[in-house]
Amino acid sequence: MSENTNPVVTLEHGRKAFGSNEVLRDISLAVQPGEVVAVIGPSGGGKSTLLRCLTLLEQLDDGELSYGDVRVAGHGDSAVGGRFEYASKSALAQARQRFGLVFQQFNLFPHMTVLQNVMDAPLVVQKRSRSEVEEQARALIAKMGLAGNEDKVPCQLSGGQQQRASIARALALNPDILYFDEPTSALDPELTGEVLKVMRQLADDGTTMVVVTHEMAFARDVASRVIFMDGGRVVEEGPASQVINEPREERTREFLGRYAG
Ligand SMILES: Nc1ncnc2c1ncn2[C@@H]1O[C@H](COP(=O)(O)OP(=O)(O)OP(=O)(O)O)[C@@H](O)[C@H]1O
Ligand SMILES: [Mg+2]
Repeated sequence: MSENTNPVVTLEHGRKAFGSNEVLRDISLAVQPGEVVAVIGPSGGGKSTLLRCLTLLEQLDDGELSYGDVRVAGHGDSAVGGRFEYASKSALAQARQRFGLVFQQFNLFPHMTVLQNVMDAPLVVQKRSRSEVEEQARALIAKMGLAGNEDKVPCQLSGGQQQRASIARALALNPDILYFDEPTSALDPELTGEVLKVMRQLADDGTTMVVVTHEMAFARDVASRVIFMDGGRVVEEGPASQVINEPREERTREFLGRYAG
């Protein structure tokens, strides 16, 4: 990795507590363009909280967070003495345009068609022209293997189709990075496969992604880097094959052991 590349997102010394429960304890993470980072770890380890803080759904208590040149949160100019604070509303709005998010539960509007779902944010948030947005939306829907379903509403689709429509929706904002939080854990194995297939295709296309997942085969085969989180800390991280096939830390070995055989 070249030192000159600019990370898409950078978090340094991120901390987050809910009351006395310290959920993120000094987490640092930088994602380079084109990287696919898989985040694995036991339940309650802070994976979703990390994604929620990175996507501004939850506020950090401390740390430094930026999207490229957009500084989201950190300490003021007076360096060490500066108070931790979030940037202005307009800076946060700018940062929100840099990422897309796909949850476990498909985040589609139930009363809108697939096409309307995919077109909504580009029209409303980015105020782009309808013809350009529609053309891109149809292409994304086709890319997700959903051609012919443009005019269906979510309840007329299978879970796997809904999740692929959610991915099209997230891609429609042309984000620099896509976050996934256990995108297949609500799906049957057969539907899981079709969602993982489009995610693999996105990875092959060079899409920058951070994926919280329990799919170890996907993490090993598709991720460029794996982060093992436990107890609000990064316990181990490295190339996917190393972390998954030859974990160095006992806790990682113990966790992965649950997936073996
Ligand atoms: N909004 C909240 N209020 C209070 N506590 C919370 C909140 N969200 C998460 N927590 C707590 O933070 C800790 C980490 O939860 P988190 O959902 O981030 O874990 P996770 O690694 O995503 O787990 P899982 O694999 O089960 O999804 C847990 O102890 C959880 O109870
Ligand atoms: Mg979670």
